[in-house]
Amino acid sequence: MTSLPLASVPSIVIRSSLCNYTIDFHGLTDLGTWHPEADLILTDAFFRGRISFPKEQPVIFVEATEAAKSLPQIIELFVALKQAGLGRGSRLLAVGGGVIQDIATFVTSLYMRGIAWDYVPTTFLGMADSCMGGKSSINVGAFKNLIGNFHPPRCIDILPVFARTLPPVEMAGGAAEAAKIAFCRGPETFSRYLELVQPVLSGAWSEQDLALLLHATLLVKQWFVEKDEFDRAERRCLNFGHTWGHALESATQFAIPHGLAVALGMMAAVRFLGSPSYCLPLWDHCLQLLHLTLDPAAVESFEPERFRRAFLADKKHSSGYYHLIVPTSSGVELGVEEITTPAGDPQLAAIQLAMEEALQAVSSVPLEIV
Ligand SMILES: NC(=O)c1ccc[n+]([C@@H]2O[C@H](COP(=O)([O-])OP(=O)(O)OC[C@H]3O[C@@H](n4cnc5c(N)ncnc54)[C@H](O)[C@@H]3O)[C@@H](O)[C@H]2O)c1
Ligand SMILES: [Zn+2]
Repeated sequence: MTSLPLASVPSIVIRSSLCNYTIDFHGLTDLGTWHPEADLILTDAFFRGRISFPKEQPVIFVEATEAAKSLPQIIELFVALKQAGLGRGSRLLAVGGGVIQDIATFVTSLYMRGIAWDYVPTTFLGMADSCMGGKSSINVGAFKNLIGNFHPPRCIDILPVFARTLPPVEMAGGAAEAAKIAFCRGPETFSRYLELVQPVLSGAWSEQDLALLLHATLLVKQWFVEKDEFDRAERRCLNFGHTWGHALESATQFAIPHGLAVALGMMAAVRFLGSPSYCLPLWDHCLQLLHLTLDPAAVESFEPERFRRAFLADKKHSSGYYHLIVPTSSGVELGVEEITTPAGDPQLAAIQLAMEEALQAVSSVPLEIV
């Protein structure tokens, strides 16, 4: 790493049963001066010509699309790794967003029964959320994120400068996931998040501002990941906004991007509870993120029947019951809780109504697309 660590933003060490791993923050302000080196670099085709890789550095560029996360394309990658001469002691560096991360996690976990890798997340979502936790999610046929495993990188290097080229919709989506993490832990962490996110909302952020927000968010996520590494109890709370959100993505044929669907999913959960006053700061913040970036045509494309089907297909429900993560009034232990509610038409209608009311709330104020 050629850049200097960011002053006053300490590293984070995540304790995992698989291997402990570290997150460091780097204060680079000009991406052109960064020259990453590893046995092999796997990166997003977006960075072709934008990052100066050393001349002899082997690099594989991948288009960051959902198709790239499918098994046929991944099998080709195993061959490419072998052809690049990667052995059991080699180290791969992945540079990219969630798509590159999912592919790198999966491929390095299986190649020669597992090799070490490092990760530089380049999207706000990757930096604030998915870089920690070690999960991969791979698409199979028409099924998104159907298979996956756990294989965390050894070192995660966060260079906030990467966020400079992200469009506003990516920034808003990443902020929605960061808001979710903060809200899940409780009111205090959410208030702190609301203070730290202000420079990002104004667009006038420094590398230090972003690093402080990311650091605070990742510390909260660390609490969940260390308490429940394999998603069996507390970590499930981080699905907040996702049960409604995933169904909304399907119901709009993915016209609403993931992060914005999560913001709308959190609003739907709030509406489902009858909009209690303790949820007002979250509601207002989601509205703010969505007003800046949600395309009204995407909202128009909502298909109720598709929504119901996608909601029912969610793998988190159990026989006879829907499982929902909703805000809790006490906020003592956590900001959200899992509730089970009997499956059936009346509940499904209430769940759909909450989604439609969230969409209406955003549409009722003129949207400003940046
Ligand atoms: N494994 C996990 O824990 C986890 C968690 C959340 C999401 N995901 C997966 O991650 C994917 C979404 O990830 P994502 O939103 O981070 O992004 P992404 O990798 O899909 O990238 C989004 C877009 O931004 C571009 N991009 C990447 N970095 C950029 C930069 N610095 N400047 C400009 N453009 C840039 C990419 O080329 C792409 O067009 C989904 O497939 C999702 O399923 C995985
Ligand atoms: Zn998400």
